[in-house]
Amino acid sequence: QDGRVARIASAIRVIPDFPKPGIMFQDITTLLLDTKAFRDTIDLFVERYKDKDISVVAGIEARGFIFGPPIALAIGAKFVPMRKPNKLPGEVISEEYSLEYGTDTMEMHVGAVQAGERALVIDDLIATGGTLCAALRLLERVGVHVVECACVIELPELKGRDRLGDKPLFVLVNAA
Ligand code: PRP
Ligand code: MG
Repeated sequence: QDGRVARIASAIRVIPDFPKPGIMFQDITTLLLDTKAFRDTIDLFVERYKDKDISVVAGIEARGFIFGPPIALAIGAKFVPMRKPNKLPGEVISEEYSLEYGTDTMEMHVGAVQAGERALVIDDLIATGGTLCAALRLLERVGVHVVECACVIELPELKGRDRLGDKPLFVLVNAA
């Protein structure tokens, strides 16, 4: 992919033992500091999705809020935030999902999307895939067709891709 992906990959900083020993944290804040790499990241997604008849970009709090809105604007789709619990003020639907310890909940405003719409789900990173699965369930419960999930980074060892079943996943960078 024409050198852009290599620059993006090298702009992501890896911080060992954060937030706890043994975790190699993939820090996208350094990607945001590299204006060319950040622009290339958005452009690569826009090139892929601009002609796919997508009317919804659903971004997952918090880091999906960084990449989702510029993509949504560029492809002419609306942006829908998928939020942590008790943050959205209107009526919501919720999905629980499992974390390494315990569970979390993801919420979406009722009325933000309509049955039959075509969505792209965006986040910075897929690890176990639990977060993306919860977003998929939320959208599919209300009759939205998720065209694809997209992330900047995949941690392939954690096999999150398998959890998505036959739902396509597009990533720019594989982190070893
Ligand atoms: C991280 C990352 C993804 C999720 C991936 O978010 O940004 O959203 O974990 O993990 P999974 O594939 O195992 O579900 P985190 O929950 O740390 O929160 P943040 O984005 O708000 O920082
Ligand atoms: Mg996140």
